[in-house]
Amino acid sequence: KTIDTLGDLRGKRVLVRSDFNVPLDGTTITDDGRIRAALPTLQRLSDAGARVVVMAHLGRPKGSPDAKYSLAPVAARLGELLGQDVRLASDLVGPSARAAVEGLADGQVALLENVRFDARETSKVDAERAELAAELARLADAFVSDGFGVVHRKQASVYDVAQILPAGAGDLVLKEVESLSRATTDPQRPYAVVLGGSKVSDKLGVIANLLTKADRLLIGGGMVFTFLAAKGHSVGASLLEADQVDTVKGYLAQAEANGVEIVLPTDIVAADSFAADAPHTTVAADAIPDGKMGLDIGPDSARLFAAKLADARTIAWNGPMGVFEFDAFAGGTCAVAQGIIEATSAGAFSIVGGGDSAAAVRILGFDEEGFSHISTGGGASLELLEGKELPGLTVLAD
Ligand code: 3PG
Repeated sequence: KTIDTLGDLRGKRVLVRSDFNVPLDGTTITDDGRIRAALPTLQRLSDAGARVVVMAHLGRPKGSPDAKYSLAPVAARLGELLGQDVRLASDLVGPSARAAVEGLADGQVALLENVRFDARETSKVDAERAELAAELARLADAFVSDGFGVVHRKQASVYDVAQILPAGAGDLVLKEVESLSRATTDPQRPYAVVLGGSKVSDKLGVIANLLTKADRLLIGGGMVFTFLAAKGHSVGASLLEADQVDTVKGYLAQAEANGVEIVLPTDIVAADSFAADAPHTTVAADAIPDGKMGLDIGPDSARLFAAKLADARTIAWNGPMGVFEFDAFAGGTCAVAQGIIEATSAGAFSIVGGGDSAAAVRILGFDEEGFSHISTGGGASLELLEGKELPGLTVLAD
């Protein structure tokens, strides 16, 4: 179900779930990508004359109001981007929310305060979520689910409310699902996946699934050291999940059996400590000296990874290759981004998924247009790549 299936929305109150979980430095938004990604749906509803009531979460407050997680900075930025004042209700379903909704003229947009200030939003008890969903539903005539980053969450504002109001997927959710499906369903081959980020344990499901789908798996980031350890190499003082080494050995064996190529770095930029100005040197990936901490893949690995991407027809990338926030350890992530951009201009379909890799693309100054699709989802895009059914999507199925 989509916005189109909701019929004429002029004068109707439309409740929209967006994902405005943006990084903040105090009250300054450091990356407004998720707010910008929400604009097409909000603008479309506004243009259609709907009275738009947006709800979203920010961070993980403990189920009660916490000024640190207020959506006030988001309301201000959203207003600037939409070119209209966006009133922020000071509660979610209380008097302020009701007044904000009642005060809306056709085409106007209001924002409710952080849905996670109400403990029922994330409750595991169905009846508690249903109760909040019923209160939310009373504020509106229809529901549009457009927070792609949260569709993997069975939460009141994502899942339960869609069972009460006439509901449809927003344009961002549709675009995300369409793009990610190109990798998950019958990808054009070779299909190469670049995985990074700090922990193997965050990516177990996705790796297991990719070992049956992808042709090549390029591994970097903090998680690579658990792979190197599984191959019997010393990793010095690098991040290591010792309890995952056996699991990774199993992956390596399964990859060989399935004919999936696992591409590991051949060299590593290793530092004396975790700091932007830490003394560092490039060492062989199979012999990281004691006391040295790997913080990026090395220049040979960067060339190898770029070569493994060059002839790919489908590419998915999740997770940076190193500590890209520090200039000295950004080389691997830059090389992968550049390699994907070149493969894309040669005709590959490329997806950047996961909050960190999308942020890396922007922070390192790459042109977002160089990629076929940059997902706004972190966990949600990983779970789609993992082949899971996501509650926020199944609830919208016709
Ligand atoms: C995200 O940042 O990936 C989404 O906004 C979901 O946030 P959550 O992991 O706190 O549910």
